[in-house]
Amino acid sequence: LRIAILASGGGTNLQSIIDLSQKGLLDAHICLVLSNNPEAGALQRAQRAGINTACIDHRVFASREEFDQTVVTTLKDAGAELIVLAGFMRIISEIFLDAFPQRIINIHPALLPSFPGLHVQRKAIEYGAKFTGCTVHFVDSGVDTGPIIAQAVVPICPDDSEETLAARILQQEHQIYPQAIQWIAEGRVRIEGRRVYIDKSRC
Ligand code: GRF
Repeated sequence: LRIAILASGGGTNLQSIIDLSQKGLLDAHICLVLSNNPEAGALQRAQRAGINTACIDHRVFASREEFDQTVVTTLKDAGAELIVLAGFMRIISEIFLDAFPQRIINIHPALLPSFPGLHVQRKAIEYGAKFTGCTVHFVDSGVDTGPIIAQAVVPICPDDSEETLAARILQQEHQIYPQAIQWIAEGRVRIEGRRVYIDKSRC
């Protein structure tokens, strides 16, 4: 499976996918790492691993649609079959969704549908939740609303800061995101409405 990974930040999720793919533990070839942020650590991680990169700075485009059209063309040229959002801080327009129907996935650092949006580790702590976690989901036209593929639960400790909780959640993100990609690569993932079924009969 040819995958493209889109990241705006540090890229620890990207790194976990690179590491497993280099060990031959993931049936996915990373054909491109794309960022909207020239400063993204993710671009450096990709370059260090010898992966093709593209940087498309959203600030030079007049509209979201023009930015997305350029991103789509770049992803198609790279032959991407699955689009993996890993801390990509841009909302996806219909142009992007229509170009890759049911082929865009995202990871979110909370247990959806609780705490969609931004700064969700802090929001979970302030809410007083005892558990939070992370969610891998297909991307649809809403913000963090698409069908859920995988989740992991993480406890919130009384003395947690936003940073300590985020780090504990990231450890789980680095497990479930590659797992979900592997399931998709093996053709085990089927979407029916909101529900995603994983065929676990073949192990
Ligand atoms: C992760 O917490 C992910 O859930 C969210 O953005 C963060 C990206 O972290 N969507 P990293 O760049 O992969 O380290």
